[in-house]
Amino acid sequence: MIVSGKVCVVTGASSGIGRRVALDLAAGGAKVCVTARRTERLEELLGELGDGRGHSLFTADVGDRNSVRALADHVRDTYGRCDVLINNAGYSEESHFTGPDDVAELERVMQTNFWGTVYCTAELLPLLSDSAPASVVNVASMAGRLAVGGASSYCASKFAVVGWSEALASDLAEREVYVSVVEPGFVPTEGFPQHDMVGDPFLKYMLGTVEQVSAAILDAIENRKLERVVPRWYYLLQVPRVVTPWLYRWVLRNAVEPRQKRE
Ligand SMILES: NC(=O)c1ccc[n+]([C@@H]2O[C@H](COP(=O)([O-])OP(=O)(O)OC[C@H]3O[C@@H](n4cnc5c(N)ncnc54)[C@H](OP(=O)(O)O)[C@@H]3O)[C@@H](O)[C@H]2O)c1
Repeated sequence: MIVSGKVCVVTGASSGIGRRVALDLAAGGAKVCVTARRTERLEELLGELGDGRGHSLFTADVGDRNSVRALADHVRDTYGRCDVLINNAGYSEESHFTGPDDVAELERVMQTNFWGTVYCTAELLPLLSDSAPASVVNVASMAGRLAVGGASSYCASKFAVVGWSEALASDLAEREVYVSVVEPGFVPTEGFPQHDMVGDPFLKYMLGTVEQVSAAILDAIENRKLERVVPRWYYLLQVPRVVTPWLYRWVLRNAVEPRQKRE
């Protein structure tokens, strides 16, 4: 596996997708630095990854630039290099934007999902460049390609991550720092339990798994893919938006968004 012996930093590793990808990277022989805010969760994970194999943990809030600077110092002091950065930390606050009171919520979500991605990339870029060829994988979402009402802050943050990632891929290609953006659909995790879909006899077939997303992240790294949608067929959901936008918006307004309002 291409990650064998590489130093990989995984943000948001205390649960869900980040935890799974950390375990899979370690199984592939990587030295993994796991980070998130909940130290006890990271300690448990480190125990599973195995002592004495070059793994480490660092408690950090990705939305706090000083905290991210300290993370970069830890990676530099511990490993002296960084081959892979997986910007996975993120969360959602379901909301309808109705006025001035909702700006703070939008700022909070952008701070973690977008600025957290930017801060981690910026602070680790000197190490990534020195270790090139290197990879940055940004975990966005299908909500970064297709916007729905009721999740405006989350969609804004993930559209920002997608747009920034695509442009960054060009900016960093010469340095041989390869940027990928991975866009999961619906995956049941702690922060995104997808209760309505898990219990629905039809919608449950639309769910992906953390294993699938982790495999897509590894595929993006190994094959230097700019974009990976998970599950892959979700990619087709973007077609009606481009080809028949009126039908796309009708389905959203009449089938998807009323469902969200009921929850
Ligand atoms: N599950 C889905 O359906 C789905 C779909 C599309 C995209 N995604 C994206 O996938 C990524 C992982 O989500 P998940 O489904 O695995 O959810 P999860 O199980 O809730 O994991 C989220 C992770 O992010 C960390 N985190 C949140 N805010 C943070 C902050 N300010 N600083 C540092 N770490 C922070 C959390 O750790 P601490 O709380 O310990 O800090 C946790 O480890 C997110 O970016 C999410 O937007 C998920």
